[in-house]
Amino acid sequence: MTEPEKPVPRLSPPPAWRQELVRVIVVTTLALLVGAAFGHAMVGVCISLALFLGLYLRHLARLSAWLQRPKGLNLPEAGGVWGEVFDRLIDLQRRNRRKKKRLAGMLAEYQASTAALPDGAVVLGAYGEIAWFNQAAQVLLGLRGAADVGLRIPNLIRNPVFTDYFVRGDYSDPVEVLSPLNPRNTLSLHIIPYGNNQRLLIVRDISEFKRLETARRDFVANASHELRTPLTVLRGYLDMMEPELQRQEALALWRGPIAEMKAQAARMESLVRDMLRLARLEADTPARSEVLDVPAMLRRVVEDARALSHNEHRIEAEIDPDLRLLGDENDLQSVFTNLVSNAVRYTRKGGEIRIVWRAETDGAQFSVKDTGIGISEKDIPRLTERFYRVDVGRSRASGGTGLGLSIVKHALDRHEASLEIRSELGKGSTFICHFPASRLRAQGLPALTTAAAAKV
Ligand SMILES: Nc1ncnc2c1ncn2[C@@H]1O[C@H](COP(=O)(O)OP(=O)(O)OP(=O)(O)O)[C@@H](O)[C@H]1O
Ligand SMILES: [Mg+2]
Repeated sequence: MTEPEKPVPRLSPPPAWRQELVRVIVVTTLALLVGAAFGHAMVGVCISLALFLGLYLRHLARLSAWLQRPKGLNLPEAGGVWGEVFDRLIDLQRRNRRKKKRLAGMLAEYQASTAALPDGAVVLGAYGEIAWFNQAAQVLLGLRGAADVGLRIPNLIRNPVFTDYFVRGDYSDPVEVLSPLNPRNTLSLHIIPYGNNQRLLIVRDISEFKRLETARRDFVANASHELRTPLTVLRGYLDMMEPELQRQEALALWRGPIAEMKAQAARMESLVRDMLRLARLEADTPARSEVLDVPAMLRRVVEDARALSHNEHRIEAEIDPDLRLLGDENDLQSVFTNLVSNAVRYTRKGGEIRIVWRAETDGAQFSVKDTGIGISEKDIPRLTERFYRVDVGRSRASGGTGLGLSIVKHALDRHEASLEIRSELGKGSTFICHFPASRLRAQGLPALTTAAAAKV
């Protein structure tokens, strides 16, 4: 067996500064010897060192000149340590040039792609000043090119909704504003924070989407409205037929079908009513604001719920008698009725329903808690969608259209209120409406306290 060959250690040349040191020592020693031969050893050493100093100063002067104008001048050829320093500097310069070229290429590509975007993009600095924008932003916001760079964006988009959004600093959702160039167009403005205190403003023209939305809403509202008259006529004739059917035994065969027709016509009427209500809620008109006697409204709702339940559930209420709300009566009546009637319809006989109206830390809450069939976790986020029903058969059998919670959500939105849904399948559900403090009106003192809550 042959011994594995040992790697021959590579001899690296001694560093340049060491070679330079050796050169200085050798030359100075020679100068010393020559000087000694003439009887002036120190003069020889001084001449040698002076020559080296002169040489180094010359190289330093060239280096300084090159550092001032690295593009215009070439570094001279030099030996020893200076040669190495010059070579390294030239190498560093080449590498930097290559890197700069690559970055400039990437930047140009990035700018070309963002410039081609159909959406406007505006890069904002720490104080909201414009640093850069693309072609689309220029067209959508009417920016004037380089003249607007450096100006603060709230001074250019003079819209209170945008100013409020910009100052508030909660950029999770975009805001919609009328175009500063054409008030018939709508823009969506979304600020995206990034990097070191920088922000990107994305501008999108959503006028077409808005027009389609309005057309869809108008169509639903008009169609629902037009359906009301024929339905009323149908119901009227069916009502007229009923006593006749009861009187004449020969018509007994028709009693069942006519009753079914009446039930279906009633269902259609309630569907049309809900669709009209939803269309009205979706229209951008702000909710009417009057001081509502919510405790009185809720007492009636509780009575209606007991009637709907035929006393098959235990219905309890805890209502703060002093807590009033600024809002639209029809909207809030829909909210209360929908949530309470859902609790009755989706809770088995003998179940419990608890209705609460009370103040909370930063506002007030209306809640309906039941011990009903409950809703699975996956269905909860979809409940407020139009026509969404967990169990279509069950809901239809109880006369449901699946529009109730959608109406609730829209009505609450118009009151800056939110809907919280907690539920567990088979155990029950709680629907909580949170109203902001700005909508509360107290009657008498002390107000806004749960201590004053009374049992109904
Ligand atoms: N308290 C509840 N307990 C269990 N399921 C519920 C409850 N409330 C609502 N749901 C479920 O959510 C679905 C949507 O409710 P929503 O009120 O929107 O429609 P609906 O009650 O079916 O019909 P509508 O209210 O239009 O007459 C219901 O079909 C039902 O499956
Ligand atoms: Mg309902």
